[in-house]
Amino acid sequence: MPYAPSQVSFNAAFLSEIKEDNQRLQELLSETEIMFRRIPRHRYSVEQKRASVQRLLKLRDQLALHFALENAFGYLVDVIDIAPRLCNRAKAMIAEHDDLFLELCELIDDAEAALYDEGNAASVVNVARDYFRFLQKFYDHEAAENALLLDAFDSDLGVGD
Ligand SMILES: [Fe+2]
Repeated sequence: MPYAPSQVSFNAAFLSEIKEDNQRLQELLSETEIMFRRIPRHRYSVEQKRASVQRLLKLRDQLALHFALENAFGYLVDVIDIAPRLCNRAKAMIAEHDDLFLELCELIDDAEAALYDEGNAASVVNVARDYFRFLQKFYDHEAAENALLLDAFDSDLGVGD
């Protein structure tokens, strides 16, 4: 396949928004991780439980923005245009956004149930365990997405086909 100039175009405002989003998301992910790593060693007060719900809600809002940027600005859709052979992988990545978002929402429901001590409520320690599972899935997703973009970039340059 002959060399084709890049078909993906970005503008400066979009790049700046992506950069800010990534930075804020990374901060929230690691702040939440630190918070939950402390849980087995400390008995959580109501105030601490409330703070953990608030932090998870902030994370949920940032994750919604993160996925909206990826979906709406369509760089995964660009991947499909550039390299149709990667279509199924790109669609799977987009579907994972919904799965991950729903998983975080369920986790927040559990954290709220723990806060209000509802019957059969999961303990905060269980919420922490589920958060670490979610975190691993999210990082696996990000790694798969980066690998997909690199494959598409290779295709765009005529390296992959
Ligand atoms: Fe993604």
